[in-house]
Amino acid sequence: MESGRTMDEATQARQAWRVGVLFSQRGVTAGVERTQLQATLLAIEQINAAGGLLDRPIEPVVYDPESNPKKFRALAEHLLTVDRVRLVFGCYMSSSRKAVLPVIESYRGLLFYPTLYEGFEYSRHCIYTGAAPNQNSLQLARFLFEHFGNRFLLVGSNYVYPYESNRVMADLVRQNHGKIVNEIYVPLNAGVADFGRVIAEIHKSAPDVIFSTVVGHSTASLYEAYRAAGFDPARRPIASLTTSEAEVAEMSAEVAEGHITAAPFFETLGTATARRFVAAYKARYGADAPVPAAAEAAYFQVYLAAAAITRAGNAEPDRVLAELGEIEFAAPQGRVRIDRENNHAYLWPRVARLDAEGRFQIVWNPGVRVRPDPYSMLQSLDDWSSDGIATLAAARTDPV
Ligand code: ACM
Repeated sequence: MESGRTMDEATQARQAWRVGVLFSQRGVTAGVERTQLQATLLAIEQINAAGGLLDRPIEPVVYDPESNPKKFRALAEHLLTVDRVRLVFGCYMSSSRKAVLPVIESYRGLLFYPTLYEGFEYSRHCIYTGAAPNQNSLQLARFLFEHFGNRFLLVGSNYVYPYESNRVMADLVRQNHGKIVNEIYVPLNAGVADFGRVIAEIHKSAPDVIFSTVVGHSTASLYEAYRAAGFDPARRPIASLTTSEAEVAEMSAEVAEGHITAAPFFETLGTATARRFVAAYKARYGADAPVPAAAEAAYFQVYLAAAAITRAGNAEPDRVLAELGEIEFAAPQGRVRIDRENNHAYLWPRVARLDAEGRFQIVWNPGVRVRPDPYSMLQSLDDWSSDGIATLAAARTDPV
């Protein structure tokens, strides 16, 4: 027995912190979810290489829910009841988050959700580290009104996020006295032919912008259909919150060029912290591995959870939740923290345009951190205020 320790303490010191990890490696959103899985594991490996938390390593228990909400739910239940983990990192599609949350809530666990979503949700058992609409939709809308116009065609995959995100965008368009020319939904697994109606609608109504809430593999099919139809993205782009480096990796650079995305992080962000993260990710997973905002959130949320466990001295969800409100972390996108009123993250909105190499070049970067407002209570198009002087000072020391 180790001197100065009881048997229980010595055993406990060797035991790992077991956490659940639920990202899809198969199915429609496997491309982006694989980046979230890899970023989660990268953060865990880095923390373990630095000695773990309180001398104990983190042990990820990983399952593949195959982009299927029912499998997400069943695997969440397995994690909480059989593997007996209390903290789970996972989910991309809002349908999977909504399937998992009742399970997490009934077993008093805590889900860390690293994906942009439609907002209008709060669970005491969920930490939301992707953008809410006031941290991406609002900024994207302003950029598009200024540069392209206010007649929008909305195109989405057929599930909850696109319907709700389109409702938010439609409200913003109407606030700006614009028009939604049509709203079209395609199956989750849509191919090029499924976008025939979209192409016909663009010919018919000539919108200024196509706002896409299409997700996963279908994204490449939309952009390919658009290029094949001969439309010019420089004059009329597809704008999206879900077309990230992961979806662009599934299309050619010619197909991608000129289109626009808003997100808090892009692989090309030039800050030292961002460059270190991208370099570590590519050293681990390959030079061509895409590093989208969804992966960056998956990465920094592990560090937030780790800091909370260390401060709490245990991984009890209630204690972790209490500590999370006290922590700030220098994430690749900038300093982030969790708002204790709504469990969402303060984030740094940016807008980028895809260049001729299919790389996102940031075209609007105010260097301002925005408080999460998931119920859109405060902001209007003309006021999406930052979280104040302190953050503006922080932005100056960490130039964007
Ligand atoms: C999403 O479904 N939240 C992209």
